[in-house]
Amino acid sequence: MQFLKNISLKEYLTMQVDVQARKAVKVLSEADIEQLWKVYRHELQQALVIGGGSNLVITASPDQLVLLMEIQGIEVVHKEKKVLLQVAAGVTWQHFVEYCLNNNYGGVENLISIPGKVGAAPMQNIGAYGVEVKDTIQRVKVFDLTTGGFDWITNEDCHFGYRESIFKNVAKDKYIIVAVEFLLTTSDHTIKVSYGDVQKMLFERNIHEPRIQDVAAVVAAIRASKLPDPKELPNCGSFFKNPIVGVEVFTKLHARYPEIPHYSVDTEWVKIPAGWLIEKAGWKGLRKGKVGVHEKQALVIVNYDGADGNEILNFSKEIMKDIKQKFGIELEREVNFV
Ligand code: EPU
Repeated sequence: MQFLKNISLKEYLTMQVDVQARKAVKVLSEADIEQLWKVYRHELQQALVIGGGSNLVITASPDQLVLLMEIQGIEVVHKEKKVLLQVAAGVTWQHFVEYCLNNNYGGVENLISIPGKVGAAPMQNIGAYGVEVKDTIQRVKVFDLTTGGFDWITNEDCHFGYRESIFKNVAKDKYIIVAVEFLLTTSDHTIKVSYGDVQKMLFERNIHEPRIQDVAAVVAAIRASKLPDPKELPNCGSFFKNPIVGVEVFTKLHARYPEIPHYSVDTEWVKIPAGWLIEKAGWKGLRKGKVGVHEKQALVIVNYDGADGNEILNFSKEIMKDIKQKFGIELEREVNFV
């Protein structure tokens, strides 16, 4: 492990908020965590864990210990018709997806180009283009901060939902995710191209029987066309969740805005794209000071010029207030604030 003092966390957060950590540790192995437990148990229990930093905004310099998760390694546990992989938390998500494509392992191709690290993926059950990471996760390996030992949490016990899991709510701060076990296909892949944009681009490319690599290439191209690269324009991807409203609420909105895009969740609930609401309310491309809404995707807030966490928080509050006033809908942030 590597101890660091008074370092800027800017390069560890895709929103590039420049806060100082007094004490940080680069965690390079599971043994590092056991070591920390033995010597600095209290600090470890209070620690702020940073995975890929792609879904995190920090509003003030953290006093507590910061853990920078950098454990590496992808291990084939078992391979037959399907392959079981154990992937360390510090592996970059994109690296993992590329590894799967190169080995022809199917299941995560629709999730290409998502920033962050593998350990953060189960946290909010990352999802895109008709696939959620919960569809491929078998188990999650954690360090339990109450018992001081490692444990495996099954997919079922993670209680995955839309951008939700126990790691975000009931078990918040209880565990450090150290590895994720994925079950992927090695042949006869299930190709998921239900998304209109994906279908359209495959058609344009004259691909009629797409391989997982084709799906990945198309998804990557679509994402690149509307989502800003955090290295060029600091951002956290989708800033808000797409709200799910009751059918009655939706029916009233639909009468007012017949063009409103929507997806039926079940007979009682309808999901509405937050990006549409934000664009309709006039925020798309709007900039206030150092922060703004991305011009190509209204769901993304961009840090244009070194804004601090509070400026970003306040800007998001303004948007939420306006959406509540205009549509009567409470937006919920997807991004975590500390
Ligand atoms: N829309 C607008 N204006 C906008 C953005 C979107 O009107 O500025 C409308 C579009 O016209 C479309 C609908 O909203 O009808 C949906 O847009 P899109 O397919 O781009 O997806 P999204 O709902 O904006 C979600 C995820 C993304 C994921 C895409 C593709 C959430 C919060 N976001 O976005 O995830 O890539 O679907 O599956 O569920 C992320 O979480 O960081 C992320 C990028």
